[in-house]
Amino acid sequence: RPRVLSGIQPTSGSFHLGNYLGAVRQWVALQETHDAFYMVVDLHAITIPQDPAELRANTRLAAAQLLAAGLAPERCTLFVQSHVPEHAQLGWVMNCLTGFGEASRMTQFKDKSARQGADRATVGLFTYPVLQVADILLYQADQVPVGEDQRQHIELTRDLAERFNTRFGPTFTLPAPYILKETGKIYDLQDPQIKMSKSASTPKGLVNLLDEPKVTAKKVRSAVTDTDTVIRFDPVEKPGVSNLLTIQSTLTGTSVAELEQRYEGKGYGALKSDLAEAMVDFVTPFRSRTQELLDDPETLDSLLAKGAEKARAVAAETLAETYDRVGFLPAK
Ligand code: TYM
Repeated sequence: RPRVLSGIQPTSGSFHLGNYLGAVRQWVALQETHDAFYMVVDLHAITIPQDPAELRANTRLAAAQLLAAGLAPERCTLFVQSHVPEHAQLGWVMNCLTGFGEASRMTQFKDKSARQGADRATVGLFTYPVLQVADILLYQADQVPVGEDQRQHIELTRDLAERFNTRFGPTFTLPAPYILKETGKIYDLQDPQIKMSKSASTPKGLVNLLDEPKVTAKKVRSAVTDTDTVIRFDPVEKPGVSNLLTIQSTLTGTSVAELEQRYEGKGYGALKSDLAEAMVDFVTPFRSRTQELLDDPETLDSLLAKGAEKARAVAAETLAETYDRVGFLPAK
């Protein structure tokens, strides 16, 4: 079985629709066909200041949402990044292989540090992508299911893996991005020119999966479209409508072509109210399942402990080989 690995930050509390359609949905599908490793990346989260109690709660909340979305502990390895110390350890080695200029070119760093203010951005935020490289290489992942915004980090992973292999001998698998064309970038409902995100979206343009379903339905109904009335998939001329069609198509398993036909001669109101209904049908069980899982933190924690144990077995092996190749003296 080919191996996949991916991660999600716990920082945000509720996942948003972009996280789900761009990444988590694929994680659920891939656990059936791949040897799958998925983690809540709490080490990455502290690159931005976090309240300790909130971070802890959000880490559990993220794990609960992943299970509610359909990850099954018997079909994949689900764990918390800080439970596997090898991430930080390999991260250091990778830091020593990364060019300063190379790291400076990461667009997510540029965006995030600009938002933080140059003086407040930490060195941790700067080396964030390098830690992500270590995450992926530790598991010798063949594919990394993510949204479009992570593509550059996977390219960096390939570059560093190749550099290490050339310098020290074949050690790491070169991973490929697994990014779906249709859902790799889900857009803000109010501003369909920008991607949906916690940090950049307006509250009305951001669909949080754990919001009251009524709130979600309202956001869908007031989504920005255009002054035309034709329902046609055309991301350049009709970004708002196209985004709604993508979401509706993915959530209901209906092709975009079929939807275009269904709404021929009908206005945007019809599409929006059907989509609002599909969203409510999706988030209602998702919310209650998440809550059930949170109500039993012991079960959740022990499941994560088992996941970490499985992950460590793989990570420790890769780290040992890496240390040996680098020339570290083994501890006797
Ligand atoms: P994060 O936590 O920001 O986002 C989790 C996943 O959601 C995807 N995503 C989107 N997809 C489509 N449309 C959107 N609007 C949208 N917004 C977010 C992201 O692309 C991501 O796949 N650096 C990563 C976490 C990470 C990781 C890793 C991923 C750490 N280590 C190793 C893969 C492998 C991040 O911050 O994702």
